[in-house]
Amino acid sequence: MSRYAQIVGWGKALPSRVMTNGELSQIVSTSDEWIRTRTGIRARRIAGPRETTASLAEQAAQAAIETADIHPTHIDLVIVCTFSPEFGGMPSVASLVQDAIGAERAGAFDINAACAGFMYGLAVAQSMIVSGQCDTVLLIGSETLSRFLDWSDRTTCILFGDGAGALVLQATEERTGILSSVLGSDGSGAELLTIPAGGSRQPASPQTIMDRQHYIRMNGREVYKFAVKVMGNVAQEALERAGLSASDVDLFIPHQANLRIIESAASALGLPAERVFVNVQSYGNTSSASIPIALCEAIDEGLVKADDRLVFVGFGGGLAWGAAVVQWGVPATVRRRGWRLLWHGMWYSWARGRSAARRIARKVDAVFLDGSWSRNGHNGPLAKHARRDGRPTDRLLDAAKDKASTLDRRR
Ligand SMILES: CC(C)(COP(=O)(O)OP(=O)(O)OC[C@H]1O[C@@H](n2cnc3c(N)ncnc32)[C@H](O)[C@@H]1OP(=O)(O)O)[C@@H](O)C(=O)NCCC(=O)NCCS
Repeated sequence: MSRYAQIVGWGKALPSRVMTNGELSQIVSTSDEWIRTRTGIRARRIAGPRETTASLAEQAAQAAIETADIHPTHIDLVIVCTFSPEFGGMPSVASLVQDAIGAERAGAFDINAACAGFMYGLAVAQSMIVSGQCDTVLLIGSETLSRFLDWSDRTTCILFGDGAGALVLQATEERTGILSSVLGSDGSGAELLTIPAGGSRQPASPQTIMDRQHYIRMNGREVYKFAVKVMGNVAQEALERAGLSASDVDLFIPHQANLRIIESAASALGLPAERVFVNVQSYGNTSSASIPIALCEAIDEGLVKADDRLVFVGFGGGLAWGAAVVQWGVPATVRRRGWRLLWHGMWYSWARGRSAARRIARKVDAVFLDGSWSRNGHNGPLAKHARRDGRPTDRLLDAAKDKASTLDRRR
């Protein structure tokens, strides 16, 4: 029996703070007219001080769990696609979300393929389901790009925004859900879209901070040319793999970076405007979050029906890109049940409480059990075990010393 990965839940989270082009024009030398005509963007959302990539991801995840009508314990895997993670390198945002929603059976990891991240996440979720490794995957795209923008650089700060979108994917034996997916990359274009410092090549230092190297840097014109070329091609390839053509597409949901890029991809595919979903005007480029947010809004607007064929296409830094063809398989309606919201609300509170209790228990362990309460760590039970059995490193050292003296004696 073949297995397919079907989208059964969807949800989004957007910060309430709206920043219009007019407001931006008071920060950098730009204008509403310039931004609108070059990009189609009119406004974007900006995370408040208490909103982070993980908190937006968690909200979107909760909304997706509600529409999927599942319990968090049904989730086998949490994937978060982001290039604006909660912490520099670790822990992953996915682990934080897994803990916050009490998905206690789930593995968790992040994917970074910049603005193509969601397409990579979708392909990985599909593979995990189709291979039988997982039955239920929570896939999230979440970004707080405003924290990585140089608000004095008018070539980048006008483009990006914050937000999160989440999907729940489940195994089905019907030929529905993700029918095909294609991924691609060209690292020779790595320097076109980058955050220069903060990694192993240029670790953070006072100099990198002074040089404003921790912000997004972009060669807009080159990225534009790449995007226009790749979007139509990769969508076409995904359609061919699914045995379909552009005329079979009911709704095209591309990465929302720039209206002109979307229009040129749509025209390359021969798709009329009514079959192309656009919301870049409201949110700007939310990177990994843009496609799932757009899908949620397309559903809210009644544009997605059972058996519709959707095409998702993403592209971004790396350079990286991807596309997928999806056949919609579930009713695109949300069944909100008060009792379930209440029960899940209680579950999330319990998960938070349990997480806090575990953190406290770890601290208690550290103080009373591993001996760190004594000044030199020699009095705790673990220290006593180590004295009785010998620490592994001590035993290895002793063995090495024995061997060296045997060799000396032989000489
Ligand atoms: C960024 C982008 C809108 C710039 O548009 P463009 O037509 O290529 O503009 P250019 O960079 O050539 O700049 C043209 C002029 O506008 C100026 N300019 C740039 N940003 C400006 C702004 N926000 N407001 C006003 N003027 C601006 C430039 O300084 C330049 O002035 P000059 O001719 O005097 O030197 C466009 O290149 C783009 O959308 N690229 C793709 C970016 C993207 O989607 N990235 C994310 C991928 S996931």
